Amino acid sequence: MTKPIRKAVLPVAGLGTRFLPATKAVPKEMLTIVERPIIQYVVDEARAAGIEHIVFVTGRNKHVIEDHFDMAYELEDTLKARNKAEALKLLEEHRPQPGSTSFTRQQAPLGLGHAIWCARDIIGDEPFAILLPDVIIKSKVSCLKQMVDLYQQTGGNIIAVEEVPEDQTQNYGIVELSEKINDNASRISNMVEKPAPGTAPSNLMITGRYLLQPEIFDLLSNQDTGAGGEIQLTDSMLKLMRDQHFASIKFEGRSYDCGSKPGFLSANIAFGMDDPNLAEELIPFMRAAIEGSL
Ligand code: UTP
Repeated sequence: MTKPIRKAVLPVAGLGTRFLPATKAVPKEMLTIVERPIIQYVVDEARAAGIEHIVFVTGRNKHVIEDHFDMAYELEDTLKARNKAEALKLLEEHRPQPGSTSFTRQQAPLGLGHAIWCARDIIGDEPFAILLPDVIIKSKVSCLKQMVDLYQQTGGNIIAVEEVPEDQTQNYGIVELSEKINDNASRISNMVEKPAPGTAPSNLMITGRYLLQPEIFDLLSNQDTGAGGEIQLTDSMLKLMRDQHFASIKFEGRSYDCGSKPGFLSANIAFGMDDPNLAEELIPFMRAAIEGSL
């Protein structure tokens, strides 16, 4: 019997320098894809996978994320008084239950591995999920739910992967696979961060969704800084791989790296096109943009 995945960590302590000056006062995770902040998509994905408790690892200037997941009394009272039932329902649907979120501060942005380590006491001795909140995934079934379904068969540690063109592997963390588990899942034998061109062990990049066993925290506790002078999660996962099983899942869906400008703009178009009214206006606009007749 595998222990259930009940908790998820969302590290939101990064500086978001690629989106300055927008991110000087507004956290990157609160920038919007159509009408929802990026972080809302990620929280919705976690909840659709059955996650009961979300731990946000925050930093300075991130208190607005806490406000976003709280009740907004004045606003909701006003909406009630004005009979705006639909808007109220929307707010209710997206709000986590009281007591189902925790916020802890990373204090200094020492790297993703360090941010995850900051959640150790709240997670305790159980397997947990990590969702990088600047990556949003458009899929029929929540990507994390697909991972949890695999985890229920395999246990161990699971990493979501996605194909990238071979000439772009040097920009990502890439996995090396051994035996197949099923059509979409395989055992991972190694991971390489940003392999030099022509040396990547596969064309499968690590997408920003992980299910990990709690032993990762001991490894993170003892870890030195790695690439970029930061405490890297990958370094501790590689150590954990010596003792524990890691599997990859090629999930159904597509990721958007909203921490990068092309990913952010693409996500706005992709999610915008889901709304028929918006699509009707967007299509002629995009056609004109491509033809250079704006
Ligand atoms: P990024 O590498 O995208 O860094 O972090 P960043 O600071 O957010 O953005 P840029 O590169 O300056 O534009 C990947 C994820 O890890 C989190 C970030 O919040 C993001 O979700 N992170 C990174 C932390 O929580 N703490 C850190 O020390 C570093």
